Amino acid sequence: MCGIFAYLNYLTPKSRHEVLDLLLNGLKRLEYRGYDSTGVAIDSPQANDIVMVKRCGKVKVLEDAIAEHFSGKEYDEPVMTHVGIAHTRWATHGVPCETNSHPQRSDDENSFVVVHNGIVTNYKDVKTFLEKRGYIFESDTDTEVIAKLVHHLWKKHPGYSFRELVEQVIQQLEGAFAIAIKSKHFPGECVASRRGSPLLVGIKTKTRLSTDHIPILYGKDEKSPQTCEKDTEAPKTKVLPRTESTSEFMPLEEKEVEYFFASDASAVIEHTNRVIYLEDDDVAAVRDGTLSIHRLKKCLDDPHAREITTLKMEIQQIMKGNYDYFMLKEIFEQPESVVNTMRGRVRFDSKSIVLGGIKDFIPEIKRCRRLMLIGCGTSYHSAVATRQLLEELTELPVMVELASDFLDRNTPIFRDDVCFFISQSGETADSLMALRYCKQRGALIVGITNTVGSSICRESHCGVHINAGPEIGVASTKAYTSQFISLVMFALVMSEDRLSLQQRRLEIIQALYELPDRIRQVLKLDIQVQELAKDLFQHKSLLIMGRGYNFATCLEGALKVKELTYMHSEGIMAGELKHGPLALIDDRMPVMMIVLRDPVYIKCINALQQVTSRKGCPIIICEEGDEETKSYSSRSLEIPRTVDCLQGILTVIPMQLLSYHIAVLRGCDVDCPRNLAKSVTVE
Ligand code: F6R
Repeated sequence: MCGIFAYLNYLTPKSRHEVLDLLLNGLKRLEYRGYDSTGVAIDSPQANDIVMVKRCGKVKVLEDAIAEHFSGKEYDEPVMTHVGIAHTRWATHGVPCETNSHPQRSDDENSFVVVHNGIVTNYKDVKTFLEKRGYIFESDTDTEVIAKLVHHLWKKHPGYSFRELVEQVIQQLEGAFAIAIKSKHFPGECVASRRGSPLLVGIKTKTRLSTDHIPILYGKDEKSPQTCEKDTEAPKTKVLPRTESTSEFMPLEEKEVEYFFASDASAVIEHTNRVIYLEDDDVAAVRDGTLSIHRLKKCLDDPHAREITTLKMEIQQIMKGNYDYFMLKEIFEQPESVVNTMRGRVRFDSKSIVLGGIKDFIPEIKRCRRLMLIGCGTSYHSAVATRQLLEELTELPVMVELASDFLDRNTPIFRDDVCFFISQSGETADSLMALRYCKQRGALIVGITNTVGSSICRESHCGVHINAGPEIGVASTKAYTSQFISLVMFALVMSEDRLSLQQRRLEIIQALYELPDRIRQVLKLDIQVQELAKDLFQHKSLLIMGRGYNFATCLEGALKVKELTYMHSEGIMAGELKHGPLALIDDRMPVMMIVLRDPVYIKCINALQQVTSRKGCPIIICEEGDEETKSYSSRSLEIPRTVDCLQGILTVIPMQLLSYHIAVLRGCDVDCPRNLAKSVTVE
């Protein structure tokens, strides 16, 4: 998805070259989100002007263009205060090209320039409104209406502050957005806002910050007699109140300060660990180095301040280290990331589990009608992977739902339902919409996310943070195994007082203890997997079969192969083989089969025989030392033994490695597969 990065230095001298380096670096940190074009806007050395450079393609292309464009000495001269905005665009309205890239501008003179993440759904109405007033649009984007609407209001209300203008604008917008705006008429100022798309403000000061929160400034009563002249013609025909300072207004005032506006924390962590996560409809404005946060209306339960959060993330966590790709690094991080998920929760000495984030809700959850696990893509697969164990240990009906389909069906939801929303980013639009749908109907909402401060985190009643650490590769790997473990831990908590389940629980807790070592053993298969990739990478298709606890690995493995290698791949429930997929089998069709010594072993062997008797030559994933199963094929991968319900963690790792190696052999961009985004904030 699009990425926003803006930087403002106040009384901290920086040359324009330094500012550009900061902006480019910020964009590089956001590359993982997925994008197809880029752009920056900074102040021109010629007084009162803004220069923009935009390019189609990668940040590197923009970097080269910037080197060419901004070569003069004047770019080396320090400026005390400056605002630069930058963007990575993931096309939604209009093809990827320079004109459609952001920043989008208000006019030929770059009076107002804006970077935007999200979709303005009523942009056509706003566009028509502005066209009637003489505005000529140059791009196909929805974003351009924002820049032009600010300009229009600025002309009409010359007395308005920059922040007031933006407040007027956001009231006219429908849909989802995060925006950062800069203007040549308001030098040294930056205004940012969000609704539905994430945005945070990073704060860097020389000395310790003088406060740990920023009070929120609320607007005057809507009935305030302030008017916007004839802005009642504006598309939403609202009379817009202006906001004014109140006595509680104590914005953040620091002498020398730098501010960063970014779509996510990984873009700011190398500069500061002090951030404020903006909420929907917050307007954050910096003027004379002072940050203030405004809202137009105060609701009953609105807080008085936004907290300044200290990020726990380390810079090394978002660097590639010695790995060629983030994805590979993240696959190899799994022995540690699973430990981080369990840390402080699984007490191996007392064989007990405590999930602090949901502990107070457990009695309510135990009384529920059913558990619903909702997510998209890989997160959905983690629900498929753990459903059987949840059914066994909670003795409740468990429904597993794809968020998009769930919404399409207007699925009935009841007050005594417990709905789990599983999302690495915590920002996936489909999951968030489904969450709001369930919340409105009175269900208890449990968030399972990897991103502190994300929308799903904030909007859930309670939850489990999976603590997998930042996941940069677009393809989800370590987040999957950590989601898996989080759900297993939940099942264990739910069965704590069931006497009949104690033996089973102990077996699982012991297997969790051994898991990091087992994962390390599986990772040693890397060389063998790489050899298999050489056999497979020129094929058009790969079928992955399994059942029971390993069906989720088939779905997840096939998703990894599709998204990374652009090869067709399908996860097949082995029990369904004779109902159709068997027709695909011949001596040329690449097949992988997961056949482990668990309760469905015999059924899996039946499927294996059905495949081999049609001349199929599957690659078998089996248990270490299982000579009998191995004898069905010349190619196999042996994984260590573990308890049945955790096998899926060990079987998915060879699939993650396989898709990685095939992608490398096919020359694909592993960390940023085509057409995909890390955080899908549009429906
Ligand atoms: C696949 C992948 C996606 C995400 C999906 C949901 O590797 O990463 O399928 O799992 O877009 O994203 P989150 O988990 O952020 O809600």
